[in-house]
Amino acid sequence: PRHFAIVPAAGSGSRMGADKPKQYLPLLGRPLIHHALAVLCATPEIDKVFVVLSVGDAEWARHDWSALGPKLVPLFCGGATRADSVLAGLRAISGEAAQSDWVLVHDAARPCLASWHIDKLIRELAHDEVGGLLAVPVADTLKQADAQRHVQRTVPRDSLWQAQTPQMFRYVMLRRALESAHDVTDEASAVEAAGLRPRLIEGDTTNLKVTYPLDLHLAEWILQNRDK
Ligand code: CTP
Ligand code: MG
Repeated sequence: PRHFAIVPAAGSGSRMGADKPKQYLPLLGRPLIHHALAVLCATPEIDKVFVVLSVGDAEWARHDWSALGPKLVPLFCGGATRADSVLAGLRAISGEAAQSDWVLVHDAARPCLASWHIDKLIRELAHDEVGGLLAVPVADTLKQADAQRHVQRTVPRDSLWQAQTPQMFRYVMLRRALESAHDVTDEASAVEAAGLRPRLIEGDTTNLKVTYPLDLHLAEWILQNRDK
């Protein structure tokens, strides 16, 4: 099977509160999204990298993506939610992807994706029936509270993981799962709702999602100090 990447990048970045969507904010001299796209495009196993942009995206054309080479394909078909955007991307590539090809979905907002993250995911899931996702063990003690914020219980964290991306599933299975899913925030939830069990592949916390302004500083530090 081949491998395709789908990068949902049709969000507005409301929690960041910047003057443009966070995927286009400058990070070490390049648009934030450029970092993850470059790593995905440089992965030999990945045939093509589809970026799902919002229909009216005016920012993409303002930047130079030529350094990323011919694997990169922008699709102006984003939807109202992340899941809608991913599903629109899957539909748009139906002529390209075979049923059993792998699709790696990666958030545009995770610029610190490293090649070892992708290599480990692809290697460990190569013979898996279902697929899976990068994740990290939860580090903090977790409290469940009622509406008045009184602690009801401490949730044992030893079996809890934080989901990251890339999330890697077979094309047809992922598409069917997302077509029947409701209110899912990642691909794995849709696959779980279809009765299947994605596998967690341990990544690390450097692969953070840029959500708030502080995350931008963390991402910059991580990229600058990598390989040192
Ligand atoms: N995304 C998307 N289409 C949407 C919403 C989100 O493609 N309708 C993408 C974002 O661009 C991002 C990823 O999904 O790369 C993760 O979403 P999130 O971090 O929530 O980004 P935003 O939705 O842009 O941010 P916010 O929720 O703060 O508005
Ligand atoms: Mg969002």
